[in-house]
Amino acid sequence: MLRSIRRPLLPAVAFAAALAAGAAHAQAAQPPVKVGFMLPATGTFAALGDMIEKGFRMYVDEQGGKLAGRDIQYFRVDDESDPSKATDNVNRLIKRDQVDVIVGTVHSGVAMAMARAAKESKTLLIVPNAGADAITGPLCAPNILRSSFSNWQPGYATGVVAAQKGYKRAMTIFWNYAAGQESAKGFTEAFEKGGGKVVKELTLPFPNVEFQPLLTAIAAEKPDVVFAFFAGAGAAKFVRDYDAAGLRRTIPLIGSGFLTDGVLEAQGAAAQGLMTALHYADGIDTPRNNAFRNKFAVTYKVNPDVYAVQGYDAAQILASGLNAVKGDLTKRDAMIAAMRKAPIDSPRGKYTLSAAHNPVQDFYIREVKGRENVMTGVAVKVLADPARGCRM
Ligand code: PHB
Repeated sequence: MLRSIRRPLLPAVAFAAALAAGAAHAQAAQPPVKVGFMLPATGTFAALGDMIEKGFRMYVDEQGGKLAGRDIQYFRVDDESDPSKATDNVNRLIKRDQVDVIVGTVHSGVAMAMARAAKESKTLLIVPNAGADAITGPLCAPNILRSSFSNWQPGYATGVVAAQKGYKRAMTIFWNYAAGQESAKGFTEAFEKGGGKVVKELTLPFPNVEFQPLLTAIAAEKPDVVFAFFAGAGAAKFVRDYDAAGLRRTIPLIGSGFLTDGVLEAQGAAAQGLMTALHYADGIDTPRNNAFRNKFAVTYKVNPDVYAVQGYDAAQILASGLNAVKGDLTKRDAMIAAMRKAPIDSPRGKYTLSAAHNPVQDFYIREVKGRENVMTGVAVKVLADPARGCRM
């Protein structure tokens, strides 16, 4: 058996050894920040998840691959946009991978389960899309922040636009889960405040795309306008089916901008002229947005969309927190306070987070021209979510 022989070190050797130990200690104190992506990699929202991750990584890469001097280590879970698997999936990141921060997700139902788990375990959560009103409402918490929107926001902005256009009788059509319900509620609130009336709601379960019977009901009712909430592959099909049913020329279709974001290639001629409202537009002509779009296109060989912007901004929010505490995640309160207050220099325009941690932001009017959602005006400036039920 070997026995280590202890001998007193010479002073110079002892000094060098102490230095080496110190350097090793400093390195050990700064392991990578563990970021867990919980996003859809399969299903109707797969492309949206991909764009969020691309946006997030691009911001980190722009900072030299580090935030506040710390490397970033990524973990990933495909949430399949399936709420029934959400708690197990988020616990893979929290318990198995022990991530420092979770970034996710797209689907409101999945995100609500994530918010509950994050609240309970106090894991930092940045939501880069899912609009569930509850996340910055009754489920709000210091460690939960959102870089996207609440469902109420784009719905409300679209309602303002529809009322301004002079439409009086509207029908709404949406997937019957939090995102659809809350978007339609926001739309109805603004549209009816502006003198209109929602005469009928049509729904189908997520992610069903059997639109035909509902399109028949729209043709029979003949409203002045139809408000729709669909996104991803479902939105691509809905817009094509609406056009194929001959409705586009007779009953104007309007929607929160998810209806046409990231899917114009698939919608082609069927989407031309569609008006939507959203917190991003392709044609925002600012140096910030132009630089972002060019860099994204060069890096990924694809044009960015609203989801890419939200992913990019999720990384910016994290960076503002980490920078404020020089990468020391144990200084949690200071980090969260910095994220809450930081002005976010987004491609969509500058914004800050509300007290409930949701972006207070402008909503643009957009019109589809070719393969772009071109900005044609502003629907509502600095729109804050009402954050009903949030106490923190
Ligand atoms: C949502 O479920 O909150 C959701 C999904 C896709 C969108 C927008 C919202 O494009």
